[in-house]
Formats: sequence, structure tokens, C-alpha cells
Amino acid sequence: MPVLIRADYPNPLPISLSAVREAAIHLLALCGQEQNDWSILLVDDQQMAHLNQQYRGKKGPTNVLSFSLREGEDFTADSPLGDVVISLDTTAREALNNGITLHRRLKILMIHGLLHLLGQDHERSDAEADAMEAAERQLLRRLDKKQRKEPMTNLAINVDHVATLRQARGIAEPDPVLAAGICELAGAGGIVVHLREDRRHIQDRDVYLLRQTVKTKLNLEMGAAKEIINIALDVKPDMVTLVPEKRQELTTEGGLNVAGQKKKLASVIDKFIAANIPVSLFIDPDAKQVKAAKEVGATFVEIHTGRYCDAASEEERSKEFDLVATAAEEAFEMGLRVNAGHGLNYLTTAPVAALGTIEELSIGHAIMARAIFVGLDQAVREMLAQVVARG
Ligand code: PXP
Repeated sequence: MPVLIRADYPNPLPISLSAVREAAIHLLALCGQEQNDWSILLVDDQQMAHLNQQYRGKKGPTNVLSFSLREGEDFTADSPLGDVVISLDTTAREALNNGITLHRRLKILMIHGLLHLLGQDHERSDAEADAMEAAERQLLRRLDKKQRKEPMTNLAINVDHVATLRQARGIAEPDPVLAAGICELAGAGGIVVHLREDRRHIQDRDVYLLRQTVKTKLNLEMGAAKEIINIALDVKPDMVTLVPEKRQELTTEGGLNVAGQKKKLASVIDKFIAANIPVSLFIDPDAKQVKAAKEVGATFVEIHTGRYCDAASEEERSKEFDLVATAAEEAFEMGLRVNAGHGLNYLTTAPVAALGTIEELSIGHAIMARAIFVGLDQAVREMLAQVVARG
């Protein structure tokens, strides 16, 4: 066990321990130290003040302390590196002051502590301080690169509403399988369908056929019901997105309450991971849900953009956009892959696509609505122009 993470914190932890562990393992590897032991202890300001007084004779808390086990002459290349202690209270204050997320500040402090363990110092001379700062920036960049899986935002198109129109007549047309092919030819990077328990639009036949025809990526959206889970395991889509599902709703209303059903979701996710199917959890832009998604082992979160898109005023839209951006950033910093969707249209998509943290947008209704007037190929291309106009 090269990385030991412990938390001795009196309040509910504001961070995800699995995210900290993952970042620590990456950092060890980036420093060529994957065989060595590194321990990280997360404390509050009170305990940090106590340690700061005891070991450095200084009053008050500090952000990070490193206790190297490699001082003196008695160590070999595979000796344990030592302990880094970080105050989460100070980390949170510094994150706020710097306008960055808690996990990002925590990563920066972990890097700082690790470099100390590896013998770097910023107090001996200006030259060493400059070298350590440069090493910190470089390690953070390399860690970001390791955690970013896709450099460009992808457009995944939800074709449910083609099936809605078909089901309105109970005949064979229009066919969502053909629609998916047209979307892909127009440049879509993925196809999404929601197989609902009531089968109001997408049918089992559609999902099985799409598995054979989709050339990009098939994302199966679903509630965590046993019958649908079994179908998903049989179909083997490229990924599944778990959503809350209510029979009376017109469309998915809110995000999943992951924090309130961690045990159930963890066991569903385990089933999919065992079958090599990554799982995304559709959640509201809420730090508590992001942290819970990481803890239950999700690979992705899909951040709900509905309230941002439905905002009644520009002021409200800007507030909701900030919530989406912050949640996406926090999820990304935790090592989750991040998608977003719901309600996005030709006016609201570009700012979300411009967020550097989001891999994929899942968009359905707006594209199908425009397709009625301009054709599906054209509607997809116009939305792609919004997605790639990012940054
Ligand atoms: N993401 C999720 C989880 C959804 O449930 C839906 C609606 O099916 C979408 C994205 C697409 O939303 P819209 O049709 O409003 O673009």
C-alpha cells in the first residue's frame, strides 16, 4: 500500500478521500516514486496549530507540514517518503481566497508537501524557492493532463424524441436507429437513448439495434431498476447514465440523490464496472452530490444544466451557470470525468461547451425540434458549430 490517506477531522469531510488517494497515486508515479510509501493526514486548524507549535515552535495553524523519513543518511531508494499533514480548514480558506475549488487547492498542497519529502526546500535560498515553485507548477500541469481524458468537447445526441413521434402513431416510423445514423454522419460524437421502464419512447428493439449500428459511442440512459439493469448488461453499451425516473414526469426532472443512496448505487455501479461498462451519474450541480458520486465509484458525472437553461432572468442564468461551472470543476478535480446536459439549446450550449472541464454534452430536444424545420443533418451541424465555438 504505497499511499495511506487518513482523516482526523471533527466535522463531515468536505472532500472525497478516494479523490485524494487517486491524486496521490498519480503524483507518486509522476515523480517516479510509485514503489514508495507516502502517508497523508488531513486535520483541522486546531490540530495543525498544535503540530506547528510542537515541531516548528510557531503559533497558529499552517496549511501543510511535511515530515520526511529520508533525512540523515540511513535511507535507501525505497525507504518510505514520510508524512504530509494538511489542514482542511486552511485549505478551504485558501481555496476561497484564490477562487479555486477545495480539491484543487488540496492538490497544490499535496504537491508542495511531496516535494518537501523529496528534499526540495523554499526557505534555504531564492534559487531553491524558484526551483520548487517551477517544479510545483509542472507537477500540477502533468497531473491535470493525466486526469483529462478528452481534449475536446463531444456532442452526444439523444434520439428519444424520434421514438416519441413514432410511438404517437404506434407504427414503424420515424425510426430512431436511422436518426442516430444521420446524427453520426453529420458529426455527432455519440448517441444517447433512455430506455424507460414504461417504454414510452425507446423500445428494447431500438437499443439492441443501436448497439449494432452506432459507430461512435452508445450511452444508455436508465433508471436503476433491475429489469433495465439486466437489459443494459446484455446490450453492453459503451456507457450507462443512471438517472432518477418517475412515471408521471414528462422528462427527467432533477438529478439523482447519490448522497442519499450510496450503498444501492455503489452495488449497481459495481455490476457495470465488472462488465467493463463505465457509469455516469446524472446529478444536480451540488458539491455534496459530486463528492458522493466519487465515493460510490462512478466514472463520470453528468451535471444537470436544466435550471441554467430554464432561468427566467439573465441574473438567475448567470447564477445557475456558476453552479454548473463550479460543480464541473470540482468533479474534474476529484478525477471524475464530466458530462453535462438537459435543456441545452442553440443559445445556452456554447458557454457550457467552453468550460474546459466538460467532455461531453448530451442534447436531444432542441436538436429534434429544429430538425422538424431544417432537417436533422442541418440541425446537428448547427449545434456542432455551437459546441466547437468554445473557448
Ligand atoms: N441528459 C439527461 C440525463 C436526460 O435525461 C436528458 C433528457 O432525456 C438529456 C440529457 C437531454 O435533454 P434535452 O432533451 O433537454 O436536450
